[in-house]
Amino acid sequence: MSIEDLESIALAMVAPGKGIIAIDESTKTIGKRLAAVGVESTEESRRAYREMLLTTPGLGEHISGAILYDETIRQSTKDGVPFTTVMKKAGIIPGIKVDKGTVPLAGFPGDVVTEGLDGLRERLQEYAKLGAQFAKWRAVIKITEDTPSSTAIEANCHALARYAALCQEAGLVPMVEPEVLMDGDHSIDVSYEVHEAVLRSLFNALYEQNVMLEGTILKISMVIPGKDSDEQVDAEEVADATVRVLKSCVPASLPGIVFLSGGQTDKQATSHLNAINHIGPHPWPLSFSYGRAMQQAALKLWAKDPKANVAEAQKMVHARARDNGLAALGRWNG
Ligand code: 13P
Repeated sequence: MSIEDLESIALAMVAPGKGIIAIDESTKTIGKRLAAVGVESTEESRRAYREMLLTTPGLGEHISGAILYDETIRQSTKDGVPFTTVMKKAGIIPGIKVDKGTVPLAGFPGDVVTEGLDGLRERLQEYAKLGAQFAKWRAVIKITEDTPSSTAIEANCHALARYAALCQEAGLVPMVEPEVLMDGDHSIDVSYEVHEAVLRSLFNALYEQNVMLEGTILKISMVIPGKDSDEQVDAEEVADATVRVLKSCVPASLPGIVFLSGGQTDKQATSHLNAINHIGPHPWPLSFSYGRAMQQAALKLWAKDPKANVAEAQKMVHARARDNGLAALGRWNG
């Protein structure tokens, strides 16, 4: 696959007014989310829940792509249609999460590093055959008194760049995701500094590994105070800090940037994205790749009666997609 092909997939992922739904929770994480709403996590309940999401009528109006988990990309609707076929019909690009989660970084208490490079070349080839056109790898950066160390930032960015190069070799667009967690009581200024260090390290590592930025998407956290901080900031301040750090660290040749929701409420995730786009135009499309902020309302409703509530839950998924799609244009008005 040529760089032009990768670039056209990347551009379609951030088409105007469209964003991505992340439904790539590992079996352990989706198990926790289902348990929280009283649903037992079985292969069938996970399949049924994801079928509800992926068959939402009109989803492709505001959703360009969906990130799946290994189990999900192999699953089908109850009528036997593979999820990837359903998605392609709806104009939704299939993506796949390929990292294997985090482990403690030896020698650096509190820091973690993401694993999953061993055997990745072969796994990417299989995912491409299964229909995936982009892949995601998430690095996790924790802010505490002692973290992140510069070693943790470098180790994570090195892995992200190795993964990205392998994706492009396999004809998949890499979505490189360094997530700076909202956990903690740090200020927005500290969040800015950590984002800056991470982004500088990331784009240096991508350069070192010969990754073509034109065929790469960045998925990043917003610059925001920690969850336990008393600092009050409005959406305009989040937007200003987030756009400032991106402009100072991210080359304009990147086709697009998407945000994760990271524990923000639905309303925060949408209003922050809207404020970010309201102060545009920017060098790249800035859109969403939300998991919780796309799903949580629909999950609660669906769980009350997974057979009877499918259509109502899908209306919620569609409403969240529409609101976030408008916010990606700076046209959401609450
Ligand atoms: P959240 O939007 O729930 O943070 O999930 C997005 C994601 O894919 C994190 O890797």
